[in-house]
Amino acid sequence: MSRSVVLNMLLSSQGGFVSGEDISRSLNISRTAVWKYINELKEMGYVIESHSRAGYKLIACPDVLWPDEISLGLDTSIIGREIVHFLSIGSTNDKAKELANNGCREGLIVVAEEQTGGRGRLGRQWVSPQYRGIWMSVVLRPDIQPMEAQKLTLLSALAVSNAIEECTGLKVDIKWPNDLVVSGKKICGILTEMSAEVDKVNHVVIGIGINANMSAEDIPDELKDKATSLAIELGYNVDRKNLFRYISRNIDELYTCFINANQWHDLMVEYREKCINVGRRAVISKGDVSWEGMVTDIDDDGALIVLDGHGEKKRIISGDVSI
Ligand code: BTN
Repeated sequence: MSRSVVLNMLLSSQGGFVSGEDISRSLNISRTAVWKYINELKEMGYVIESHSRAGYKLIACPDVLWPDEISLGLDTSIIGREIVHFLSIGSTNDKAKELANNGCREGLIVVAEEQTGGRGRLGRQWVSPQYRGIWMSVVLRPDIQPMEAQKLTLLSALAVSNAIEECTGLKVDIKWPNDLVVSGKKICGILTEMSAEVDKVNHVVIGIGINANMSAEDIPDELKDKATSLAIELGYNVDRKNLFRYISRNIDELYTCFINANQWHDLMVEYREKCINVGRRAVISKGDVSWEGMVTDIDDDGALIVLDGHGEKKRIISGDVSI
């Protein structure tokens, strides 16, 4: 915490020197403690110039999602009040589920620079190279029926698409239920996992994977025609720290609406506007069975309404939908 305040002072001085005395007075800590924090920050990759009289000057920040930095200015009420960070991990969803089972607070975020066993929907692998994406999982503890959990999937898709749009200016569409698409190619996937009893949700983990700064070479050959990254679309690398904050704020805003007020209908109106499936034909696959139909609507519970070849209305709550 104090280290984060020292970092904040250095960042706020905008390239100027901050004296050791000022830091030690503001935090009510010794000059040795200040020196210790400065050294820790240097070890984390911050380039800091030290001058015996002038103090400390921040020269450069590493492209790492250190909680000390990404939590600065994060004015959320629930999401990201606690952030756990890993340079490398198997899967942030697995870690988040472990922490949730051990009673962690609602809104905790697990974020990693790299996942060695990143998981996608339907048992697929999720490629998560180091420093190239946002690989994060959020723990929620909503007081809802298990049947309603699908709403959190749609809410997250809407929140993350809004976040990416606000942060980058790109237009982000949603492919039901929660793939985010830019220019027809997938840029983000969301994996929702729930622990529940018959009539009670224990926790929900929302795993978000954004192809932020992946280059064309980072995308596996078999996915090249289906997936892209923000950097590929924009032509430059995005500030992952900023993007992380946009995502946390947007999820916080929509989740707070969801639990505090009955604004679900309004969220669904916005979701439908962004969803590219409505009014188009789609192939619905579940297991070995595939069929084609016309998507006519998404109901307020988040189910896809599809007219099959016999003109019969089907309500789809899970499965793979391709267009
Ligand atoms: C999909 O198949 O579209 C969902 C992909 C979800 C990937 C994210 S990355 C962070 C979190 N940890 C995981 O192992 N998976 C999710």
